[in-house]
Amino acid sequence: MTYNIKDFEFIHFESIDSTNNYAKTLCKSGVKNKVIIADTQTNGRTTKKQGWISPKGNLYFSILLPLDDEKILPEYSFISALAIVESINELNSISENVVKIKWPNDVLLNKQKLCGILIEKEDDCVIIGIGVNIIYSPAPELTRYPTTNLLKNGINVDVKTLAELILKNLVSNINIRLEKGFDEIISKIVPYMYKFNDTIYISVNNQTLVGKFYGIDKSGALLL
Ligand code: BTN
Repeated sequence: MTYNIKDFEFIHFESIDSTNNYAKTLCKSGVKNKVIIADTQTNGRTTKKQGWISPKGNLYFSILLPLDDEKILPEYSFISALAIVESINELNSISENVVKIKWPNDVLLNKQKLCGILIEKEDDCVIIGIGVNIIYSPAPELTRYPTTNLLKNGINVDVKTLAELILKNLVSNINIRLEKGFDEIISKIVPYMYKFNDTIYISVNNQTLVGKFYGIDKSGALLL
């Protein structure tokens, strides 16, 4: 089974608590294949305790899909990050701009955090929540990386165009995953990884590991 972009219907809100929350509610009613997009969120959520500050002008959307195979769930963060990088590269015309994925799924534009990805499971659904800074760079406290936005880096795009472009690349990479396996996604993603082939420092259980970042394995784990 593969997806077609035409299978997805957009549901737009001027304001909502969280597009991910709404997607969860739809899932509970048996609805699938929807894209929930909002101009602002009053309770945008992140992977941490802080909220996702959501002023009007940036992109906030969630893609609601059936989760046929639970083993694929962790792979969606890589697939989503890849789709975002490809979308930004399609829009970018400035050669100095560098878009990278900081393992596992932070997208950095010129070493600054550009977006957030929140993958959640609800019943038999997966919800891919994506926020991209288009004109504002809020929430610098979320990460030790400073935040940035597209406009500041000379990339001009409106919310709807960006959402449609990311959806197109997301559907295309999900189809690659379903037809060819996660290995194919790994080989597409590795050239975009931040610090690939470089020395990195990782904190594990109060210990700092140092090594060369040389790849990603079949489970998505970082290879040091
Ligand atoms: C993170 O960086 O920790 C993830 C942030 C994810 C934010 C997006 S905005 C759209 C969707 N709805 C939410 O409530 N969160 C995600």
